[in-house]
Amino acid sequence: MSCIDIAVIGVGVIGKRHIQEILDNDECRLVAIADPSPEAESYASSLEVALYREYRELLDEVRVDAVIICTPNHAHVEVATACIERHIPVLVEKPIADDLASARALAKASRIAGVPVLVGQHRRHNPMIRAAKRAIVDGRIGRIVVANIMCLAYKPDAYFDVPWRRRAGGGPILINMIHEIDLVRYLCGEISAVQATSSRRTRGHEVEDSAVCMLELENGTIGNISLSDTTVAPWNWDTAAGEDRKLFDYRVVPTHFFAGTSGSISLPDKTLWSYPGEKGRHLPIHDERLSVGDENVYANQLRHFVDVVRGATEPVIDALDAAQTLAVTLAVVEAAKTGKRIDMSASL
Ligand SMILES: NC(=O)c1ccc[n+]([C@@H]2O[C@H](COP(=O)([O-])OP(=O)(O)OC[C@H]3O[C@@H](n4cnc5c(N)ncnc54)[C@H](O)[C@@H]3O)[C@@H](O)[C@H]2O)c1
Repeated sequence: MSCIDIAVIGVGVIGKRHIQEILDNDECRLVAIADPSPEAESYASSLEVALYREYRELLDEVRVDAVIICTPNHAHVEVATACIERHIPVLVEKPIADDLASARALAKASRIAGVPVLVGQHRRHNPMIRAAKRAIVDGRIGRIVVANIMCLAYKPDAYFDVPWRRRAGGGPILINMIHEIDLVRYLCGEISAVQATSSRRTRGHEVEDSAVCMLELENGTIGNISLSDTTVAPWNWDTAAGEDRKLFDYRVVPTHFFAGTSGSISLPDKTLWSYPGEKGRHLPIHDERLSVGDENVYANQLRHFVDVVRGATEPVIDALDAAQTLAVTLAVVEAAKTGKRIDMSASL
């Protein structure tokens, strides 16, 4: 397979971002898009690419090597299943689904058909995250005792003009906190229990605008995530990590803290904290920068997807792995609703 022919289904905010990466990558080509919205017409003609209103027509009429699915959450599984039935590998945006049963059904369909599904937890392609993972695996901070994550931002009011973002199945737990949960699983280990509280008091939408959760991990690490899309604050990955500087402002402040028995890592300022000798808060703590280049995370993700489509590698996050991230995320929603501590050990 020389050049990979890709179709993109759903060309809203993130669909356009994927398309930009396809256009910038010599190893793949955009062959068609599907989106029923009127805005998609002028966008497709500006790209001089075929537009389908119905994604099934696209799949039936256009020969594609791979599909990137960027529809609203509720349509991910339906579209991905249609691709798998046609033996087409997919990159599906997160969350893989908005319910666990269909996420697991998709994982099963992918395994049985032998068709890879890569899920768009794009931070796994960030060199900063990989460097942190390497430092953790190499034992440089010892055993992680506490993870503390902030995801506090102000989404402009126009963001909520799109109805699915205000309704159940949208909302910042499923849209944003899922990235943090995936990061905790990737860097720290599997999550075995969840407690949470949420609030919709400020925006008054059907879904929450803010939430806080407490996590217990299988390996004894404990953690918390604070989330809000209605706070004027710089402490969120989107603006602090600089992954998409066209979409978001960029200003580095530490937002993610992983504190261990021998040291700590704060991100995205890439700092590793430790004592050179004896440990103790009466002594000066040393800080050093993790050595990381500035890379385009979405371009990395696309390159990885191209390798997956060629059969050269396995997805760094497949449907089953993403279903577990979703299981924890949905447990946060449930814990916030019921006030109960949710034991996740049965789903591990
Ligand atoms: N990885 C990330 O950081 C990231 C960032 C933003 C969004 N996302 C995810 O990407 C998805 C899309 O988010 P968005 O903000 O781009 O949404 P959006 O509303 O801007 O775009 C969604 C597009 O899908 C189209 N669509 C709806 N139903 C469709 C269907 N059946 N077939 C084809 N097209 C259809 C809509 O017309 C719209 O153009 C969501 O699941 C979201 O969680 C991920």
